[in-house]
Amino acid sequence: MGSTIPQATSSTASLPDASSPNLILTHPTSAERTRTWKLTHAKWAGALNEADYLAREAYMMTVPLAKNGGLTHWILTIAGLPPDERPVLSSCETLRKRGILTRGGGDGARVQEGMVYGIGSVFTDPTYRGKGYASRMMKELGAKLRDWQRGGSSPPLFSVLYSDIGKQFYARAGWAPFASSHVAFKPVSGAAQRDQGSSTQLAKPIGYHELAELCCLDEKLMRADLVRRPAGKTHVALIPELDQMLWHLMREDFITKCIFGRTPTVKGAVAGEPGKRIWAVWTRGYHNGLETSKGNTLHVLRVVVEDEKRPEEELVDGFRAVMQIAQTEAAEWNTEEVQMWNPTPKVRGIIERCGLEFEYVDRDTSSIASLKWYGDEPIEEVDWVANEKYAWC
Ligand SMILES: CC(C)(COP(=O)(O)OP(=O)(O)OC[C@H]1O[C@@H](n2cnc3c(N)ncnc32)[C@H](O)[C@@H]1OP(=O)(O)O)[C@@H](O)C(=O)NCCC(=O)NCCS
Repeated sequence: MGSTIPQATSSTASLPDASSPNLILTHPTSAERTRTWKLTHAKWAGALNEADYLAREAYMMTVPLAKNGGLTHWILTIAGLPPDERPVLSSCETLRKRGILTRGGGDGARVQEGMVYGIGSVFTDPTYRGKGYASRMMKELGAKLRDWQRGGSSPPLFSVLYSDIGKQFYARAGWAPFASSHVAFKPVSGAAQRDQGSSTQLAKPIGYHELAELCCLDEKLMRADLVRRPAGKTHVALIPELDQMLWHLMREDFITKCIFGRTPTVKGAVAGEPGKRIWAVWTRGYHNGLETSKGNTLHVLRVVVEDEKRPEEELVDGFRAVMQIAQTEAAEWNTEEVQMWNPTPKVRGIIERCGLEFEYVDRDTSSIASLKWYGDEPIEEVDWVANEKYAWC
């Protein structure tokens, strides 16, 4: 595609300073968006070739959460220049989600619901890096989101992003780092599970048909959990609803279709009787394709323990069976490991008793869960509940 854009032709020395009032945060045209995707392909396509990556990004504008204006693309550019003839100095996207919080705790707990934003794909063309453009964009975005899509209702409760460049950069723009650990399990093939005598039959796979009901129940349990939490903190969460999971699962389907020519039907697993269930929902991510499993991960999006009061030892067998199905899927779908982000103390206890080999990892550079708070209380009083992979975008 031909281009009359300053970025390709002129010296970057003539560009405005990052503090210039002449810079604006706005939305890309379709051509500008495609140009940005072509640049981000090298960084984020994983196993997808350029055509498939462009198709995936377009597809991801149409799925639950994203459609009907849920997904917004943003660029920092120079005011007054015609669209398609202006440099894209930095870019990102936001995804509208639903959040919930409680204040006060116990019987007097006050519940508030509202919009939450996930932010992703923060990117500066290599030509323009190191000039402060991404920092400027993030500061503008943080302020802009306070009133974006608000209509007559309250501002968003908060926004989240996942930094792959450590804890400092986004903290300077207002997104504070939160807990960013995970537990990793190794893939185990179905044959090895049989040799080891694993009791995977204690759990059943979760497919699309089981998800809606489980997500409804998850939301109900989460609401009950949030109002039980103690005063002194504001307990916040992204609602783990069906659309939130579908965003991940449809993305996974698109990617696996491109790489493997087929899509996985096992989206999680559940063990136990209603009222006593434990389940996990997961998705697969591919840095690489079929050649190597390196960097490919089966991400547990969400773990739910239906009755947290049950003794850990009663939950261990079910949990083990759920995770053994995850391990088998991880092996079958060419991934290097199963990751479970920030398990609760209850789930940590179960993991330690369940007899599966695992590694605990405290991340300090990549996927740092970060939150910008729009409430009045200091960020130190904010407790992010269910800080799990489902909240990522
Ligand atoms: C990260 C990125 C958006 C920064 O854009 P930028 O316009 O150059 O950012 P700014 O000029 O406002 O700030 C630069 C600062 O970003 C930070 N930074 C950039 N890349 C970094 C990295 N890989 N690790 C840690 N910090 C990094 C540094 O603090 C840097 O300051 P320095 O130049 O003094 O070292 C850009 O480097 C990029 O697009 N990288 C590839 C995509 C990516 O990793 N995006 C972030 C995903 S979370």
